[in-house]
Amino acid sequence: MEKIVIDGGVALQGTLRASGAKNAALPILIATLLAPGEHRLTNVPALTDTGSTLSLLGRIGCPSLVGRDSIRVDTSRIAFSEAPYDVVRKMRASVLVLGPLLARCGEAKVSLPGGCAIGTRPIDQHLKGLEALGCEFELSGGYVYGRAPDLRGADFTFDVVTVTGTENVVMAAVLARGTSVLRNAAREPEVVDLCNFLVSLGARIEGIGTDTLVIEGVPRLWAASRPYKILPDRIETGTYLCAAAVTGGDVTVENTDPTLLGAVLDVLRDAGCEVTTGEDWIRCRRSGPLRPFTFTTQPHPGFPTDMQAQLMTVACLANGESHIEETIFENRFMHAAELRRMGAVIDHCSSKATITGQPGLTGAAVMASDLRASAALVLAGLAADGLTEVLRIYHLDRGYENLVGKLRGVGARIGRVGDEVRDEEVMRRSLLVEVGLA
Ligand code: EPU
Repeated sequence: MEKIVIDGGVALQGTLRASGAKNAALPILIATLLAPGEHRLTNVPALTDTGSTLSLLGRIGCPSLVGRDSIRVDTSRIAFSEAPYDVVRKMRASVLVLGPLLARCGEAKVSLPGGCAIGTRPIDQHLKGLEALGCEFELSGGYVYGRAPDLRGADFTFDVVTVTGTENVVMAAVLARGTSVLRNAAREPEVVDLCNFLVSLGARIEGIGTDTLVIEGVPRLWAASRPYKILPDRIETGTYLCAAAVTGGDVTVENTDPTLLGAVLDVLRDAGCEVTTGEDWIRCRRSGPLRPFTFTTQPHPGFPTDMQAQLMTVACLANGESHIEETIFENRFMHAAELRRMGAVIDHCSSKATITGQPGLTGAAVMASDLRASAALVLAGLAADGLTEVLRIYHLDRGYENLVGKLRGVGARIGRVGDEVRDEEVMRRSLLVEVGLA
């Protein structure tokens, strides 16, 4: 199996471009199911999760064509209203087909996603919201069987703020008869992007970007003639800004949107980084020591849970004690144990972590448990003294387009190598050859 090898300690310098947001692209690709016709999307990131989504759409009967700058999806015909276990098991976001299939076909069979490394992640709010709109569900053999004999608007309040839960219910409500009011809805930029896409298909949604969405159902939606551009990936952007922070570098991320990252930029500034922004770029520079900081993860516009792990790596190198509280997922400190293997000092119990910053980290072989944990370990490797091997890199391929190429572009000594390379000296040489330094 491939791994990422990093020869750390280089201060990263330069400019790189953010890709489109994974967590906007996946629901928007799935939302094309709501409107028969040919859809064209641009700024879709080249990720394994994008491939999994296209293959799911293909199994439903909707072929796609991946071009150089855009992806076309033809949703004229739906052959099967099902998301099988082997797809949902690989990608939880597959559960998002539930709302669109119920709205368009009146029925759906979707495998129940299990828990995952970061938490139990139930879908009770998805089902409750859809039930409020008149859907009926039966659970059997690990599948949800849904029917929508009479999809009608409703006033529904989510018990917890859920991103994909809000998305699922919105996608059904846009084709329901009458008005829906969805309260305590998620306000994440990716939910906003999905709503804007639905509006481009003819949906009527008010309150976009607030926690109360008012949706006037329409009888049908139409594929738009113009391509729709997916918003920039704020989490990928934030990860590369952290790369500048941990290496004492100077990195500018272009093709992004600073307004999506307010809480993250505030923490980077607290950490002693100089952060400047323009309309579509963010620059992060660090010349002095890193300062300790405190944050709590919250639904948007609070600090995003998807940046918690990366900022923990920054805290590992700060001059003092940092405090992090994770309130979204119950098991999202799995990276702490691996960071400790690189010399980090982290104490955590349930949702709170105290990180005592160290002058440096040392390279080690580490194992990633999920996507953002993998990113945190790559950041640690970039800052560490010596060689770091990050195993299980399939997590990174799910959410970071061309991570190795982008980091090399700003000076990182990083490469992907096969498992057969074991000896440290051989590995270092093979990495240096790969990055063109030997
Ligand atoms: N929850 C429930 N019941 C539900 C749904 C959620 O109790 O029916 C709970 C969850 O267990 C969790 C909290 O609500 O404690 C929030 O979960 P949410 O539903 O918002 O998460 P999600 O929609 O499954 C999306 C992103 C995640 C991101 C979270 C939080 C996508 C495809 N995934 O997941 O992204 O962490 O929102 O912002 O949009 C990632 O990209 O690495 C990632 C995990």
